[in-house]
Amino acid sequence: MRRAALVVGVSVLFLTAAALISAPTAGAETGADAWLRYAPLRDAAPSLPSDVVVVGTAEVVQTAGGELLRALDKTGKQVPTSGLPSADAFVLGAWKDIHPLFPELRDGRIPSGDGFWLKTVRHHGNKYWLIAGANDRGVLYGTFSLLSRIAQQQDVSALDDSQSPSAPIRWVSQWDNLDGSIERGYAGRSIFFDGGQVRGDLTRAGDYARMLASVGINGCAINNVNADPRILSAEFLPQLVRVADAFRPWGVRLAVSVDMSSPMAVGGLKTFDPLDPDVAAWWEKTSDAIYERIPDFGGFVVKADSEGRSGPSQYGRTAAAAANVIARSLAPHRGVLLYRAFVYNHHLDWRDMKADRARAAYDYFHPLDGKFEDNVVIQIKYGPIDFQVREPASPLFGAMPNTNQAIELQVTQEYTGQQRHLVFLAPMWTEILDFDMHVNGATPVKKIISGETWHRPLGGYNAVVNVGLDENWLAHPLAMANLYAYGRLAWNPNLSAEEIAGEWTRLTFGNKPQAVATISKMLLSSWHIYESYTGPLGAGTLTDILGNHYGPGIESSERNGWGQWHRADEHGMGMDRTIATGTGYIDQYSPEVQKQYETLAACPDELLLFLHHVPYTYVLHSGKTVIQHIYDSHYDGAEHAAGLVTQWRSLQGQIDDERYSDVLTRLEYQAGYAIVWRDTVVNWFFKTSGIPDAKGRVGHDPNRTEALDRERM
Ligand code: GCU
Repeated sequence: MRRAALVVGVSVLFLTAAALISAPTAGAETGADAWLRYAPLRDAAPSLPSDVVVVGTAEVVQTAGGELLRALDKTGKQVPTSGLPSADAFVLGAWKDIHPLFPELRDGRIPSGDGFWLKTVRHHGNKYWLIAGANDRGVLYGTFSLLSRIAQQQDVSALDDSQSPSAPIRWVSQWDNLDGSIERGYAGRSIFFDGGQVRGDLTRAGDYARMLASVGINGCAINNVNADPRILSAEFLPQLVRVADAFRPWGVRLAVSVDMSSPMAVGGLKTFDPLDPDVAAWWEKTSDAIYERIPDFGGFVVKADSEGRSGPSQYGRTAAAAANVIARSLAPHRGVLLYRAFVYNHHLDWRDMKADRARAAYDYFHPLDGKFEDNVVIQIKYGPIDFQVREPASPLFGAMPNTNQAIELQVTQEYTGQQRHLVFLAPMWTEILDFDMHVNGATPVKKIISGETWHRPLGGYNAVVNVGLDENWLAHPLAMANLYAYGRLAWNPNLSAEEIAGEWTRLTFGNKPQAVATISKMLLSSWHIYESYTGPLGAGTLTDILGNHYGPGIESSERNGWGQWHRADEHGMGMDRTIATGTGYIDQYSPEVQKQYETLAACPDELLLFLHHVPYTYVLHSGKTVIQHIYDSHYDGAEHAAGLVTQWRSLQGQIDDERYSDVLTRLEYQAGYAIVWRDTVVNWFFKTSGIPDAKGRVGHDPNRTEALDRERM
């Protein structure tokens, strides 16, 4: 066994830490440290052991040791040593390296995948805090987990916790363009690219990787799914090497999105037909060249035959043929291919009542089940349309027992307020992950994508994040709760939104009970609030789908081929997706789910208009008519948005002034914009339906102009 050890002299460490404690609590907080502020660790320091021993030479394990030092005292010194110190200590390392030092430990609790075991042991009269990883990454994740507990003031004096991640693929995607802009990014320009090149200074890329690692993310695709083929050019490779170098200490694998036409666009071939041997050879050569320089490269993400992108249909080939030719080039290197199921025709005939974009992913991919290579993962957006505020779980999750699957989520709030509105998405994500597809006994989505249900070798998660150069990463300080939640759920989808909100708030704003209670409550109510003033009852979207996907644009989704129709007219609204009279979309689910959706009697109110077309006078399970629900929910939503401002104001002096003021400004704006949404929507439906508001508000609101004036951002 090769063993290297680092020990830190703790007296120095804690002396410095004590000096830091006296810093004022309302110090300058930029948000750059996200949930890794480590402020409370200094208080806990005196009860923690004296030394940090790192066993093993792997870079990621060394990083873990460094992180522990950084958290406890940024000025701590690392001194090499060659064995266990005869004093209490943290001991970090992969299980294979740690076990020989503690042969008395049984391996019954050994985690799998990238997992870790946190264990306190007594050994030769000393007490050791073991952070044993199933592999090197596990050591880093265990270290972050331990630090998180300390920061949340949990008792870490006796530990025995073995955790393994739910799924091997826990990636993020950035939709960064090579020119430095970001598609659907709301927090500044790219941390990776500028002017067609990888940035010279990749400090932020390294910081991002650290943040991702702290919640267990192990891969990052750095460029837009609408990929510029130049990313695969020979000239670009040395630049990718630099990004991989910035990620590597944090165990984050670099991945890139690729365009199917690359063999032509940058390879100089006359075709990109996936069945052409020259095309196969080109992918092989290209992948080999990448792995020669980046041995831990993660793989590719592909968007093909979608929204005008090139794809195999141009040669009459299937998605399986396209995915497999690329996947085979990655397989010898253990790389994976995430092939997106977001494939649909955006020139649908809106007059055709049987046309339905929601059907597309299933219609394309279900017939291909079992035809993909083992290192292909089909990446499925959580709902069948496109990251809307409310959609049912995609039926495709239940329809590919012989294919690896990953769920695609969106941290960047494209359709959910673009980080100008507070929308904590964990409650929505947990609802989707817990949704039972009823395809193989009890089959929640989370067990399908992890590979558990159908014993698949691969599976997991990918989320579009789109952090930017803004110092606080995502522009709205509270939006970072979504990135945190994403990582935590990919690791453990059994966590509740409440648990995650509490954790994130403690780590980000400290442990004061009032702050924790208030911020958690705000987070947990925010999705429903946003849904209430933008698009209730699963109406799809009422936003401007032809422009920036932000404000109200009720008619923009109709009379065009994009298929985001709500079909509201003077009589009623909603998409009839029933088997009996509609598009047949509901038929894509198992019989048990069909029973929940097909009849009006069974259909849940929150998805009613996604699945059925009803008159405005239809009475919901709640006892209200559809039209009155639309009116009430928009008034309630706007009122609750104003309530967020009041709740936040109660935190003045409880948290730092910088983030207090920043969030306050954003919430005030949101409250104003909620009125804009409310008035636009209720007035449109009043005009269209001719049915008055039973409470006499619609058409009589003096605040509308005032609300528009308050648009400050
Ligand atoms: C949405 C988004 C696009 C993106 C697409 C995708 O439609 O608006 O910007 O390219 O999703 O996921 O591919």
